[in-house]
Amino acid sequence: MNEQIIPSFHQLNHTLSDEIYLNTGTCAPSINFVTESIIETYKKQEKLQLYPWIEAEQAFDSVRQRLADLLDVHHDQIVVTENTTQGLNMFLHGLHWRTDDEIITTNGEHVSSLAPCFSIAQRYGVKVRIIDILNKTDDEIVDEISHVVNDKTKLLLVSHITWNTGRVLPIEKLCALARAANVYSLIDGAQAVGQMNVNPVQIGCDVYAFPGHKWLLGPLGTGSLYMRGEIIQAISPINPGYYSIEGFKWDGTLKWKQSGQKFESSTRNVAPFVGLARSIVFIQEIGIHNIEKRIHILSEQLRTNLELLQGVKVNDMNSQIVHGLISCTIDKIDYHDLVEFLAKKNIFTRSITRPKGLRISVHAFNTEEELTTFISVLEKGIRKLRKHPFVQLNTDSYLLHE
Ligand SMILES: Cc1ncc(COP(=O)(O)O)c(C=O)c1O
Repeated sequence: MNEQIIPSFHQLNHTLSDEIYLNTGTCAPSINFVTESIIETYKKQEKLQLYPWIEAEQAFDSVRQRLADLLDVHHDQIVVTENTTQGLNMFLHGLHWRTDDEIITTNGEHVSSLAPCFSIAQRYGVKVRIIDILNKTDDEIVDEISHVVNDKTKLLLVSHITWNTGRVLPIEKLCALARAANVYSLIDGAQAVGQMNVNPVQIGCDVYAFPGHKWLLGPLGTGSLYMRGEIIQAISPINPGYYSIEGFKWDGTLKWKQSGQKFESSTRNVAPFVGLARSIVFIQEIGIHNIEKRIHILSEQLRTNLELLQGVKVNDMNSQIVHGLISCTIDKIDYHDLVEFLAKKNIFTRSITRPKGLRISVHAFNTEEELTTFISVLEKGIRKLRKHPFVQLNTDSYLLHE
């Protein structure tokens, strides 16, 4: 499929009229055929069945296979989750922590991965070392982390693409570094899967967590976790149930499943996952490389045009690799007001707080025209909001608003 036949969000969601959706980094807009597959699943469930769980398990198996194909890994290495955070917690809380263990992470991480790290620190006395990655080159980041790793380091946790500036981190190098030091590597792929080709085996990570509801265009409440085979054996499930085991003995012995299902405990709503499988098929039909290429073209256009606006600075403008998550700072602007202004003009973006700024998500299903309109409305918004003599800047409330 070439660029010309990549559909627009308007073709994928017939309820959209003149809205311009630039917030896939939060969640994708609903996709008609995904919603239809969910409704169809509910309709099927209206008929009584003797063994309803069998059909549900078959559906989960087929989702697991789709996810495995997407990442080019074995389906046994896939855990079906409800979101990124659940996957991160499965691994983080499944590890066996000791008081003197250390976690290395960065100040570019989302609160959803920082919160479990800090919770582990509170619970077990583990130390969390935060590396400042802002305005650092890839080599500087790798170098700094290599100096911080020590014999107490148990885990390295980094994003593939940071939630705030859309920076692609040098995760292959970081995972190699972790491996050499006998340190677990956990990648938060919330902003990567669906907008670029992701292959955890090539990356060399132990664990990779991601959602269905962002760049994969799946429904809310869907996600996945890749775990390297040995990791599945080494980690204890935090929520074990009948789905996690092959069997048990009355003396308390459990025979764990050898696959990622070890971490999936019991009955779940299968319908959203049927929707996720549908959206993955769609992404694969278009081709992840076509999506990546198209996002690159659109994002380059947007970054260039943003920088032409007076007082606007694109974060990580020097980044060599350009993906669809872009943020910028704008002189003398209240970002919350700006986001509201844009929303009134039917343009959906979001503000961020670390660093303060405006975040724009560009998927392959956005169009050049949408980006041109966005720039011209943004320019008007900046002019209008700067006219206010006393701009009341938001206080730092990032923990609530990420
Ligand atoms: C980098 C990153 N990690 C984690 C999350 C949390 O994702 P989820 O809602 O799938 O748990 C987000 C959400 O935006 C994110 O951007």
